[in-house]
Amino acid sequence: MATYFNIDNIITAREINAAIINISGRQRMLSQKAALFALKLVCTKDSYQQETLRQEMLAAIDLMERSHNGLIHGNPEMNLPGKPSKTVWKIYFEAPYNLSQKIWNYITQIRALAQVKSTELDLENPHLKYILQVSETELLEALDTVVSQYQKESEALQLHIEIKQAQLYQQSCTATATAHAHAKQLEETVHNLQRTQSQLIQAEKFSSIGQMVAGVAHEINNPFNFIYGNLQCTKDYIEDLFGLIDAYQEHYPNSLPAIKAKIDDIELDFLQEDLPKIIDSMQMGASRIREIILSLRNFSRSDRSCKQLVDLHQGIDSTLLILRNRLKACADHPEVAILKDYGNLPKIECYPGQLNQVFMNILSNGIDALEEIPNHSGYITIRTSLSSSCSSVIIQIADNGPGMNSEIQEKLFEPFFTTKPHGKGTGLGLAISHKIVVDTHRGRIWCESSPGKGTEFWIEIPLQPSAIMQEAGSKN
Ligand SMILES: Nc1ncnc2c1ncn2[C@@H]1O[C@H](COP(=O)(O)OP(=O)(O)OP(=O)(O)O)[C@@H](O)[C@H]1O
Ligand SMILES: [Mg+2]
Repeated sequence: MATYFNIDNIITAREINAAIINISGRQRMLSQKAALFALKLVCTKDSYQQETLRQEMLAAIDLMERSHNGLIHGNPEMNLPGKPSKTVWKIYFEAPYNLSQKIWNYITQIRALAQVKSTELDLENPHLKYILQVSETELLEALDTVVSQYQKESEALQLHIEIKQAQLYQQSCTATATAHAHAKQLEETVHNLQRTQSQLIQAEKFSSIGQMVAGVAHEINNPFNFIYGNLQCTKDYIEDLFGLIDAYQEHYPNSLPAIKAKIDDIELDFLQEDLPKIIDSMQMGASRIREIILSLRNFSRSDRSCKQLVDLHQGIDSTLLILRNRLKACADHPEVAILKDYGNLPKIECYPGQLNQVFMNILSNGIDALEEIPNHSGYITIRTSLSSSCSSVIIQIADNGPGMNSEIQEKLFEPFFTTKPHGKGTGLGLAISHKIVVDTHRGRIWCESSPGKGTEFWIEIPLQPSAIMQEAGSKN
């Protein structure tokens, strides 16, 4: 049936069908016409008219003969394929109809009548009697039967063509849908590849920053420990030396002039008063350096593969420390104030290095946004709290920068979406943060912002992401 899949074949099948119906119907009409001519021929006395009628009757019967042959054996000029169906064949060649035989008999009788001399033509002519009788009964009945059979077969063929066409249409629809699905799949694959690539880039960037920070912290830590550890000793020794000087002054109140001059020169009283203060401030500075080194180490924890129970505030603080230079006032921009409103949070099980990466991305974006406003009096608020059901912690990081319109907000978490100048932003920060919060920690991250009113990012981390991850896993 594949032949009907071709439009030319469909048109040809329809034309052939129409020709068969047309010509088989014409057979019926020709038989009736020939009978009418025969009757007129017998009734007319005008020899000229008789001759015309004879010609017309013979022409009709010739056409009937050609059509009959065409229907049975085929005739390309008439567009007839021949090879009738089994049912049609039986009508033509088997009882009760024996149509072919009846047609030949009829043709023979008409031709015989056409040969009868004008003087011998009358209503009692046996050829005429035969013609009039069969043309109204058995021949007519058989012709009607074959016409209606041709009709039925044509309708069946037509239906068949329509079904095939419908199937063809359906196939083409399915093929189109499959092609669309493949195109979509391809698009998704490309998108996923881009996403993975972007995640790799940022992860790589962060892990190298982390490694560098960890390396620097380690290198500083050893020499620093000599200073920090010896400061207290130095202070003690100096106090001892001051005690010794005091003892000398007490026991030798009248010292030599050269010693007196030296005491005046170095302003011994002031030195004795000031040196302990200097040592104290050195101790304070050293403690601060110690904290910084601890924060750097905390920030750069290499925790890609293991979860830890940590204090989130420590992570936020160490991230702020890394960003200290960007927060300080400089020639280009004023200071960015940090307002902290830390809630009472339990330790949470998480990948701290990755969450630090999220804080880093959001805080950097906030600073970038504030820097867009010249001479801003910008601040970033960091608020942490437990959710009302106590099942998760919430971190809100807000800035009073320029905010975002809804168009930007819609694309915020898409990889490579950036409004920053070329070379400044890659558009990966929030895409990665989204992945870390949502995929890795089963949390949520969203943003509230309006132009001119600043931006607030919300991060929600479940207290036991592992339990949630397991639950999610068992549901699948
Ligand atoms: N606090 C904010 N205020 C205003 N716009 C913001 C803020 N945070 C993010 N955006 C907008 O969202 C965009 C995407 O941020 P994202 O951190 O993903 O990329 P980026 O900062 O442009 O580049 P990258 O972080 O890779 O260096 C930014 O370009 C900016 O337009
Ligand atoms: Mg960013």
